[in-house]
Amino acid sequence: MSEALEKAREWEKMHCRTAVEKPFFHVCAPTGWINDPNGFSQYKGEYHLFYQYHPYNKHWGPMHWGHSKTDDFIKWLQMPCAMAPDEAFDGQGCFSGSAVEFQGKHVLMYTGVTQKEKDGKIVINQNQCIAFGDGKDYIKYPYNPVITAQQMPQGSSKEDFRDPKIWKDNDKFYTIIGSRGEDGSGQLGLFESEDIVNWKFVTILERCENRYGKMWECPDFFEIGDTAVIIVSPQEMQAEGLEFHNGGGTLALVGNYNKKEHLFQRKKVTAVDYGLDFYAPQTLKSEDGRRIMIGWMQNWDTYLVPENMTWSGIMTIPRQLEIRDGSLYQNPVRELENYYSNEVKIGKVRLEGERSFEGINGRSIDLTVEIYEDGKSEFSIRFASNEYFYSEIIYSPEKEILTFDRTYSGLVKDVISRRSMKVKKREGRIKVRLLLDRYTVEIFVNDGEQAMSSLIYTSLDAEKIMFYGDGSVISILKYDVVL
Ligand code: FRU
Repeated sequence: MSEALEKAREWEKMHCRTAVEKPFFHVCAPTGWINDPNGFSQYKGEYHLFYQYHPYNKHWGPMHWGHSKTDDFIKWLQMPCAMAPDEAFDGQGCFSGSAVEFQGKHVLMYTGVTQKEKDGKIVINQNQCIAFGDGKDYIKYPYNPVITAQQMPQGSSKEDFRDPKIWKDNDKFYTIIGSRGEDGSGQLGLFESEDIVNWKFVTILERCENRYGKMWECPDFFEIGDTAVIIVSPQEMQAEGLEFHNGGGTLALVGNYNKKEHLFQRKKVTAVDYGLDFYAPQTLKSEDGRRIMIGWMQNWDTYLVPENMTWSGIMTIPRQLEIRDGSLYQNPVRELENYYSNEVKIGKVRLEGERSFEGINGRSIDLTVEIYEDGKSEFSIRFASNEYFYSEIIYSPEKEILTFDRTYSGLVKDVISRRSMKVKKREGRIKVRLLLDRYTVEIFVNDGEQAMSSLIYTSLDAEKIMFYGDGSVISILKYDVVL
């Protein structure tokens, strides 16, 4: 083991956060900083999750790969740091990547970042590397990198070439990699290999052509039934109504894939999540065939570093993806239900002003509210609330807009705090599901038609929930989530 990895593993042992400050059922940084999920994969019957990791402080720094594993997506076991940037081919960082099982080994594919000085200028290069492991210890392939930017079409960026997503189809391995084309805008390079170490360029699978942001980070590509889905996280997006917001976003390109010709035909582009904190998701196929996605519940343009904690960075709840009527749906994995307790049900009630309900409170809850009849004005739910603070979900029936607002959640910086999305009534009602795990706010509308994820760092004694309506008729169902 290299000195750098040993140091990281020792550091983790000494500095892991106290149980008091962590979310209950969301993966978060053991200590220091985490960003993107990496290597979300199944290996020898267990699900592994790695992440971009800087153990030494709460800010992004030389990228390591942190590691956790689970057998049900809800209860996670902290594993020792898997990789440190300790080789000539990745000395400036082990950037994002993915994993597969091959010949009994767990193979990680990631971006090795290097830097050198040439003619007085700093030149950064990003290339793809691999490491072989046993689910705990990983050894980097000595002949890394296995894919270099020179293998991409002429004019492609050598500096922005990262985040390989690897998968196996029949006897071949494929990987797609984020890149910038000659016009500076995002493109995805597809490569193939028979032995996982020799890779051949196949095609450019998709291009953004300057419409959806610039660099496309963290691509994923999979099929659900016969629908093909590409997920990308573009930088520098521009808002388009309420569908896409400025800055870093995450898109689902839904379409068809002709495997023989390696042709992807895009039919629809939508936002994957409408919240303040969501980026760089990655998926795997579970043992029973479900497509499961996990995302970094933060975003480069909106993130806050929690003031009173020793760590920064939380993942979303793993979500099952489905295609319904040509659109991507997402819901928390059903394993969450194994941790439900204290069911409280409130049948249809008409709200006239402010109301709270016995047993409807908490900071580790799964709460579903159905709005059957609209009132004269907006309906809202204030949660994570005490005398001073609250966060709010506001539904405007007139505008058909749902808003999340954390302005009064106890923030100490004047940062962006609200996001809105268009919503539609389904079967005569709007269904809002709020999954709260101390600091995480995940809102799912109409059984997964839309999702909205954001973080709050409100003190944990703020656990009241209040409902406001001017004639609206709602029902409520709440479970505590207890691990
Ligand atoms: C996305 C990203 C990736 C990169 C990693 C670096 O959030 O910028 O493109 O590999 O983070 O930590």
